[in-house]
Amino acid sequence: MSTDYDDIAFEYKIINSQLAIKKYAEEFTFLNLLGDVKGRTVLDLACGEGKFTRKIKQRGARHVVGVDISQKMIEFAQSAEKENPLGVEYIVFDVMELGRIGSFDIVSASFLFNYASSKEALLAMCHTTYVNLKNGGKLVATVNATPLYLPINSNATQKYGYLIKSTSPLHEGESVEYLFFMDEYSFSIINYHWSKETYEWAFLKSKFRKITWQPPTISQKGIEEYGVEFWKDFLHQPNFVCVECR
Ligand SMILES: C[S@@+](CC[C@H](N)C(=O)[O-])C[C@H]1O[C@@H](n2cnc3c(N)ncnc32)[C@H](O)[C@@H]1O
Repeated sequence: MSTDYDDIAFEYKIINSQLAIKKYAEEFTFLNLLGDVKGRTVLDLACGEGKFTRKIKQRGARHVVGVDISQKMIEFAQSAEKENPLGVEYIVFDVMELGRIGSFDIVSASFLFNYASSKEALLAMCHTTYVNLKNGGKLVATVNATPLYLPINSNATQKYGYLIKSTSPLHEGESVEYLFFMDEYSFSIINYHWSKETYEWAFLKSKFRKITWQPPTISQKGIEEYGVEFWKDFLHQPNFVCVECR
């Protein structure tokens, strides 16, 4: 089991674009929190295959840069850019070592921080985020759900296409295995658990001031397609939570 996306890039790309929780909950909640990006400059950290990076540019952002540590994920992002040029710039780099590459209005980080395997790593990621923001800018992030919810070892998540396995109760920095599946595709990846207090410690230590947690919400389309009942267990124990820092 690893945290390396090079080996699972293809399966991730398929599931990330098609699984109901990703289309109707993750994407909906994250993009809503990101808000109006028209004319803004945006740095998308842990951009993966560029799903959000492209959407941000398509929503009118002036300049968008995507950064990811996985060569394979960036290759997918670049091939989408080649097919449909939007003017997004992609960089293969470890966020912890990126340093300041610009002064952005918004930094987005969908599922970055839960790859920090130590508090120092979490701090390094938060620091990179902060130094790339303009004064008054904002960070919008999604992290795995464990700071607020405990969807661990529950079979109720099976109908949404994922299982989360770890020891219970969770300890700080504990590894958590996420297994996603849809049709013939599946992948499994290791995340790390950090409590809400540890995340807030890292954000505040990186000089962010106002921290707002945002639980998942479901788009109207998701409710129409699957019905309210379907989403009940998910909303009770979701697989992610969003956070905004100013
Ligand atoms: C779950 S994917 C999220 C992709 C995209 N943000 C999304 O939500 O669709 C997590 C991504 O984080 C990247 N990643 C993990 N640790 C990283 C690091 N230290 N620096 C840059 N990228 C990292 C992985 O390579 C992977 O592409």
